[in-house]
This record gives sequence, C-alpha cells and structure tokens, in this order.
Amino acid sequence: MQRERWPTRLTFLFAAVTSAIGLGNVWRFPYLTYKYGGGAFLLPYLIALVVAGIPLLILEFALGQKLQKGAVDAFASIKRRFSGIGWLALFVGFIVISYYAVVMGWALIYFFASVGVPWKSDTKSYFFSNVLHLSDSISSIGTIVPAVFIALLISWIAIYFSVWKGTKSVSKVVNWTVPIAGILFIAMIIRSVTLNGSLTGLSFYLKPDFSALLDSEVWIAAFSQIFFSLSVGFGVLIAYASFNKPTNDIAKNAVIVGVSDTLFSILAGFIIFGTLGFMATAQNVPIEQVAASGPGLAFVVFPKALSLMPFAAFFSMLFFLILVVIAYDSAFSLVEAIDTVVMDKTKIRREIIALVVCVIAFLSGIIFTTNAGLYFLDVIDHFVNSYTLLAVGILQCIAVGWVFGADKLRVYVNKVSDIKIGKWWNFMIKYAIPVILTFIVVTQLTKEFAAPYENYPQWAIWLGWVSVVAPFVIAFLIPQKSVQKGQ
Ligand code: PFF
Repeated sequence: MQRERWPTRLTFLFAAVTSAIGLGNVWRFPYLTYKYGGGAFLLPYLIALVVAGIPLLILEFALGQKLQKGAVDAFASIKRRFSGIGWLALFVGFIVISYYAVVMGWALIYFFASVGVPWKSDTKSYFFSNVLHLSDSISSIGTIVPAVFIALLISWIAIYFSVWKGTKSVSKVVNWTVPIAGILFIAMIIRSVTLNGSLTGLSFYLKPDFSALLDSEVWIAAFSQIFFSLSVGFGVLIAYASFNKPTNDIAKNAVIVGVSDTLFSILAGFIIFGTLGFMATAQNVPIEQVAASGPGLAFVVFPKALSLMPFAAFFSMLFFLILVVIAYDSAFSLVEAIDTVVMDKTKIRREIIALVVCVIAFLSGIIFTTNAGLYFLDVIDHFVNSYTLLAVGILQCIAVGWVFGADKLRVYVNKVSDIKIGKWWNFMIKYAIPVILTFIVVTQLTKEFAAPYENYPQWAIWLGWVSVVAPFVIAFLIPQKSVQKGQ
C-alpha cells in the first residue's frame, strides 16, 4: 500500500514546528533565561541547539524519511531488539500527553472564563481553589473535579478530530493554527512591549550575567530544555518525517524547525517579561517577586498581570487562546506518533486506532483531574522528563551512531539536502550527545538521592520511579517480528 504523504513540504514543516512549539516555550524558557544569566543564557542555549538539538532533529527526520516507518519499526529495522527504543519513545510520549492534555484543559477553562476576568481579586486562590480544587497534599486524592474533567474531555475530542484522518486532518489543522497563532502571538508581543514598565521587565529578562556560564546547572538546564522543546525523543518527528518522500531536504528542515522553535521561545520571553515588568511597576514590587515558571506563571502570575491591563478580558482571551492552540498542536503530534506505529503494524483503520489511543490516553489523564492532580502531574513530569526522555536520547544515538552507522545516515542526508553536513555530525551522535546526556542523568540522580523531589512522600517518589522503570521493562519485552530492512 502506498504510504500517505504530506500535501506539501510546508505542511510538514508546519506540523513539525507546531509540535515543537508548546507550553515549554512559554512557561519554561523565559524563566530559565531570567534565572540563568539573562541574555548570557542564550549562549549555552544556542550551543545546545547546535550541538544536540539540530543534530538530533536531523537524526529523527533522516530515520523516519529514509526508512519510511514510525519509531518502532524504524529502530527494529536497524536491529530487531531495538524496537524497544521506539516503544520507549512512545511510552514517554503517552505519559506526557496524558497530562499535557490536562494543562490544555486548564487553558481552555481560563479562555472561556476570560470574559469576566474572575481571577482579578485573587489569582492564586482562583487557580488552586476555584479551578483545581487542589487538596493539601498528594496523599489526599479526593475526587474528580468536574470542570477539569469536562475540559479534558473537550481537549481530547479536539485532539481526536485532528488526527483521525492522519496527515490529511493534521494538515488542515496546522494550516489554520499556524496563521492564527502567529497573528495572536504578534499582537500579544506588541501589547506587552508597549506597556508601561515593560522595559524594566525586558532588561531583567535579557541583562547578561556571564558569570552564570561557569555554573554546570546552567548548561544542564539549556540541554534539557532543548530536548523537551524540540520534541525529540518522542517518536513524533520520526513519524512525521516518514510521510515525506525519501528525497525531501533534511538538513534545511532541521535548521528551520530548530531556529523557529528558538525564536518563538525568545519572543515568548518578551511577552512574559514585558508584562511582568508592567505589573511590577504598577504594583511597585521588585520583579524578582513576581517572576515564576510552570503552571504558577501561566495560571497565577500572568493572569494577575493581565487583569491589570486595560481591556483585560480581551488580552486574557488572547493569551489563553495562544496557550490552547500551541498545547493542542503539540498534543496531537504525540498521538500521531503512536498511531503511525500501530498503522505500520496492523491493518486496522486509522480512525479506529486514533479513537482507541485517544480514549486510553484520556482515561489515563483522569488522575490529573482529581483534587491532587497538580501534584501527580508535577511528580510524573519531573521523573519522565529527567530520566526516561534522556534515556531515549542516549539510546537513539547509540543505535544510529554505533550500529546503523552515523556516516551511513549522514551520506543519505547529504544526498537529499542542500546544506551538506560534515563529519562533525557523526561525532555529535556517537560521542558528544550520549556523553552530555549521561552526565545530565547522573547529576540529576545524585540530586534525587540527596533529597526527595519537592519533599513529596516516599510513595509518590516510588510512583515517579515506577513511571521511569515500567516503560523500560515493557518496551524491551514487547516481541518484534522481523521487519523489512530499510533501503
Ligand atoms: N515541545 C513541546 C513543548 O515545548 O512544550 C512539548 C512536546 C510536545 C514534547 C510534543 C513532545 C512532543 F511530542
């Protein structure tokens, strides 16, 4: 059977770029930059982009495109047992999507609530009490919170209808979301940087402190962020690239995706810090007191700042619509990675596969809609992204660099690409990236054993470890029939 194809190269690029651009660009990158040396952080970040980000994008694009297979069969055609690497990538993606869709749900709630800006008087209690109904510890699970549950359901229905016809439906969605999100994003940048006090915020964001570069923590933050931000290690880009013709340009695509994601991150920082500068000025507090990351930034601090603006309701809607859209494009790309693998292996219709995957992922996400949902999300997110994801990265490099042959893949990339990549790429894949990622994993492990993550109770920490170890065991136990070797 003929493999499905993206209608145009631009659609593929849209899909890959929108998978990469997500919550991480908005709620993590700006804060990391502010915390780790301001403008100076761009240096380790750009180095991480060139040393690890773009080479891994090239690896995943090349693998999917050359072998014309999703992650599992692509790795299995290098060596049968390597199918486990593909499964592991999918499991990481599955875990991430089960909570990522919940955050998309929160953003949806905020989007609809924006009309009345109900968080105006107390953003903290609005988020934690009115929306999440958060309990006082992870041990008090309580019950499902109906509004969050419904928001999650709506998110999943939207996700389902974006992937149910594969590249056909994904193409339609990204052709709409890219221009819409683009316009909203530009409008939001203009609004933020023209606010009174925004310059103070921007100077906090970007004022370089080069001494930060001597701290290994800063470099670890840069490399970890690149990994999550570019969506490498989830099988997504392998799946997306497998719908390209084998002759598509790879190096240029990788550079476009890497650079677009980075630009978006830097500009998102203008929105975040421009607005925080405005709030700090309006309330006469130092910016250090308001800077934050993660859910605390997107759903507590930033809504506060929005509520102080003229036309608060309008700009709140704008901001949360951007969050919904970027979370959405990232979320369905993870489903597409899984669907592609099942499609490679069975003759089941795509609509059915997508439905089953969405329903299972929805059900798995229910735990995050309980009163203790945010705690569970925090623990699982921490463990999976600190360990399993990086392990996938290391294993991918070993499989391609040492077994498939880095040079063999590089020769293929150069055959189809305008920009030729040199032997430095082999070095990155075979040595540099595995060594750097191993260093990060070991450093994080030492920290982990020194003190329990965020002082969660022991059972929660165990749960975190189970979410790391179980996917490994299962991934490498799944039997693999031999697959046709790639060309
Ligand atoms: N890259 C997304 C972000 O920065 O938020 C997260 C993500 C989306 C990771 C899709 C993986 C993925 F497949």
